[in-house]
Amino acid sequence: MAALLSLAAIAVAAIFHNFVGSPVFAASEEGKEVTHGSVIKLQHERTKFRLHSHEVPYGTGSGQQSVTGFPTVEDANSFWIVQSPLGTEFQQGDSVPNGSIVRLQHVRTRKWLHSHLHQSPISGNLEVSAFGGDGQSDSGDHWKLEIEGTASVWLRDQKVRLRHVNTNGYLHSHDKKYNRIVTGHQEVCGVTKKSSDNIWSAAEGVYFPAKSAA
Ligand SMILES: *[C@@H]1O[C@H](CO)[C@@H](O)[C@H](O)[C@H]1NC(C)=O
Repeated sequence: MAALLSLAAIAVAAIFHNFVGSPVFAASEEGKEVTHGSVIKLQHERTKFRLHSHEVPYGTGSGQQSVTGFPTVEDANSFWIVQSPLGTEFQQGDSVPNGSIVRLQHVRTRKWLHSHLHQSPISGNLEVSAFGGDGQSDSGDHWKLEIEGTASVWLRDQKVRLRHVNTNGYLHSHDKKYNRIVTGHQEVCGVTKKSSDNIWSAAEGVYFPAKSAA
């Protein structure tokens, strides 16, 4: 139900934007803040694949719901909500400064972007899965935002890394592709070494305007 509501919000926002030139969503795309509560697609900078999940479990490792990189831009299974870490209550529209801990909740299945010491299926790095749900989350869902460049808060189209707090693995993807079940999807995993393959940016989505902005 909540997933449906979120998707409805996206549709409403799109319509509102087209007809009213809404002050809420009319800020220029560039420089728009990625605030708490925003619903975003994360684009892998080098390959342009989007962070994706769906109800297909891993056949190895934890057996939890798989997270992959998916090339198609228009896919509702690539939407994630920017949420506060456990034990804190951020409001919709709060900025996300560099170094913040966030959780990313998959809109369709309500599970959290998660990582742990299981091996990823293709490259044997850290497995990244989708796990838990609205009432179930743990510190394995915590990711630290590291902004590349000079911005002090997370902006749309800004190059960022997300570092998994428990394992220190950066959210990573690369050209290694699955050739069965999720054919054409590429592996997403955690890698502790900084590289160009762990850079992402927030692309399509519904961005709640920053509260501090005039
Ligand atoms: C963000 O924080 C990281 C360390 O967590 C640092 O390396 C980086 O330079 C910072 N980025 C900005 C834009 O200040």
